[in-house]
Amino acid sequence: MSEDCTIIQGGMGVGVSNWKLAQAVSRAGQLGVVSGTALDLVLARRLQDGDLDGAMRRGLDAFPFRAMAARVRELYFIEGGKAERTPYRTVPSLAKDMPRELAELSIVANFVEVFLAREGHANPVGINYLEKIQTAILPCLYGAMLAGVEYVIMGAGIPLKMPGVLDRFAEQKAAEYPMHVTGALEGDDTTMHFDPADFSEGELVPLRRPKFLAIVSSNTLATTMVKKANGRVDGLVIETRIAGGHNAPPRGKLQLNPIGEPIYGERDAIDIPKLCELGIPFWLAGGYGHPDMLREALALGAAGVQVGTAFAFTDESGLRADYKQELLAKVIAGTASVFTDPLASPTGFPFKVAQLEGTVSEAEVYDERPRICNLGFLREAYRTPEGEIGYRCASGPVTVYVAKGGHVEDTVGRKCICNGLLANIGLPQVLNGNRVETGIVTAGDDIVTVGQFLPLGQTHYSALDVINELERGLLPASALKDECLAVIA
Ligand SMILES: Cc1cc2nc3c(=O)[nH]c(=O)nc-3n(C[C@H](O)[C@H](O)[C@H](O)COP(=O)(O)O)c2cc1C
Repeated sequence: MSEDCTIIQGGMGVGVSNWKLAQAVSRAGQLGVVSGTALDLVLARRLQDGDLDGAMRRGLDAFPFRAMAARVRELYFIEGGKAERTPYRTVPSLAKDMPRELAELSIVANFVEVFLAREGHANPVGINYLEKIQTAILPCLYGAMLAGVEYVIMGAGIPLKMPGVLDRFAEQKAAEYPMHVTGALEGDDTTMHFDPADFSEGELVPLRRPKFLAIVSSNTLATTMVKKANGRVDGLVIETRIAGGHNAPPRGKLQLNPIGEPIYGERDAIDIPKLCELGIPFWLAGGYGHPDMLREALALGAAGVQVGTAFAFTDESGLRADYKQELLAKVIAGTASVFTDPLASPTGFPFKVAQLEGTVSEAEVYDERPRICNLGFLREAYRTPEGEIGYRCASGPVTVYVAKGGHVEDTVGRKCICNGLLANIGLPQVLNGNRVETGIVTAGDDIVTVGQFLPLGQTHYSALDVINELERGLLPASALKDECLAVIA
């Protein structure tokens, strides 16, 4: 396993870890990971914005099925870009049996992002998926494998059935994936199917099986993944509650600190020697974006670290330039902060929100937004009284959620993460021709330390700055001490 990289640049959705960031990291010899979340929308919107640098069309031109790529281009590409106040074209919402248009867009979009991240170098690239977004998994993964993705990294759930899907696709066979449907009864059909033969034009394309890493937050889940998955798990990412994005909830009854954040206790601690006993490589994540933390992780037996927050603010990341600059200015001024919001995400998982004026982190901005669910990536599938599969989102209109059998108390404080995350990367929907969606930036508690990556006298930094700094942790501690003394002298 020594060929694995020491530093994994964590997947950051939506579009924060885009192909540019992942390519920069992989070129530098560590593992760049693109976010696989909502790539269908990301590609569709980039094409409607005119694809000014031509990258999306370059990816489409490389796609092996010409007619499918042409259909996507025909539907979404607008020469010169759409008018600013024109809404983006709607893309069908994810569902168990999705329209072919969406399946094709998902396959093509995942191909394009991975193709671009791998372009021009020979180092491995990974893709990150959220297990929670189950309805997207099969076509998205197939698209990423068509582009030769080397790692699939999955969190936000327990992806026990994922390794088997990788095996099936690598054998050019159809695959299935079970879907969680709240209230489903024995005998209900809740299995999703995908056959590459239904989408191939001509011969099936031979595919290589990527390595599979599962992201977990406890020893129990680490053991479950290794012992119960339906195929090979090549490694684990162990993520602590410091990490950006969604966090695992604390064990036991939810208790909040005086400012309303979840309190974690001893039961949430991770026993690292026990992880080593599992005998597979693992990377530590959540507050590990420091050279000394990398050194510590290696000393504890980890294969390395996964880092997100430090990369989210690099020049290459997809985060809007103004958000990046304003948050970096706060870091420099010592006023940056992150709130672990136990309610914001419709998934019910705690979600880290960077505090930034003009974004949904502010109560007034949140209150002012009408509750609309028009993207639906985080919708919950449920069994309707008629025995069908329905979909509901706790961040959507309260009356609709309740009419669909949801509990009103589950809607309190919920935020539209889907639209917020698209707005974060400069692809906001325009409602009724005037209301532009605002962002909701996620970052880890480590945001306060990202100033360490700023080159002297600069107010921005690159992915290479992060890697160079972190790789100092590969030197023995004594070498670092010598380096410090040399600087002081
Ligand atoms: C902006 C941002 C978005 C993230 N989105 C995802 C995601 O979509 N999927 C995921 O598995 N992890 C996500 N994460 C977690 C990272 O992949 C990584 O594990 C984490 O950031 C490591 O901890 P750190 O933030 O302290 O470096 C996100 C983190 C950040 C900062």
